[in-house]
Formats: sequence, structure tokens, C-alpha cells
Amino acid sequence: MERTFAIIKPDAVAANQTGEILTIIQEAGFRVVGMKMKRLSRIEAEGFYAVHRERPFFASLVKFMTEGPVVVMVLEARDAIRKWRDTMGATNPANAAEGTIRKRFAQSIERNCVHGSDAPETAAVEIAFFFSTSELL
Ligand code: RTP
Ligand code: MG
Repeated sequence: MERTFAIIKPDAVAANQTGEILTIIQEAGFRVVGMKMKRLSRIEAEGFYAVHRERPFFASLVKFMTEGPVVVMVLEARDAIRKWRDTMGATNPANAAEGTIRKRFAQSIERNCVHGSDAPETAAVEIAFFFSTSELL
């Protein structure tokens, strides 16, 4: 079993898509190990996306990620990291496969509904960024 970190981003929470996205997650066979709703501070969003600090879209991404509440989650499954990225679809919804969350709900390459860790090392860092061990059930 593997764990990955997921976010339902502010666009999807504001559009009341949280329930449908959770249904997709559960029907795909993930176990939700941790989950909470919160609003990211600017400091948290900048820290979380620090790898993108030099990218031209960084300021806009931080503004988007702090515009409203998000749902942060830890998902468990066999091959969870790859499986969750497959379930999300490509970063740009224009390139996302049929049946993926981003194909179905995302508006743009930035406002793309969900986040998923991209490797075991980043999953561990991202889980620890938002959850203490006692919050993972
Ligand atoms: P994420 O980290 O959120 O799961 O998304 P990802 O791996 O598919 O994409 P990544 O390259 O890590 O980019 C992080 C987030 O930044 C926004 N973005 N905007 N305007 C742009 O060109 C652009 N490119 C990326 C998206 O919100 C993307 O998910
Ligand atoms: Mg990424």
C-alpha cells in the first residue's frame, strides 16, 4: 500500500464539486486516511508550491490557491501516487483524458480542481506539511 497527498482546490470547492470528487475517489478504490477543510494562508501556499517559485505563473497560482477554502486529503491505495494522478488527468484540462476529474471539471491549466503528489518523496513532504501522524486514521 502507498499513500499520496491530494487537494480539492478552491475552484472545485466553490463550485460545490467536493462531493462528486469524493465519490470518484472512493469509487476508484482509494481509502481516505486523512481529510480536512481549510483556507491556505499566503505563506502556506508559497511554501507548498516552493518548487514553482521561479515560474511565471507562481504569483497567480498562490493567489488562486488562497482565494477560498480547500480540502486536503491523504489517500491510500496500491500504487496510490500514479493512480491518483491518472484519476486527476493532465495538468491542462485540454490535454486530460476522457473520464478524468480535470477533463470533467477543470476550467484552465491553472484552475484545475485537484492536486496530487508526483513522487514518493514529495508525497511524504506534502503529507507532513498538512497532517500530524495522529490525524492519519
Ligand atoms: P499539481 O502539482 O497541482 O498536482 O499539478 P501538476 O503536478 O499537474 O502541475 P504542476 O506543474 O506541478 O503545476 C502546479 C499547478 O500550477 C498551476 N499551473 N499553472 N498557468 C500555467 O501555465 C500553469 N501551469 C501550472 C496549476 O494549478 C498546476 O496544477
Ligand atoms: Mg505538481
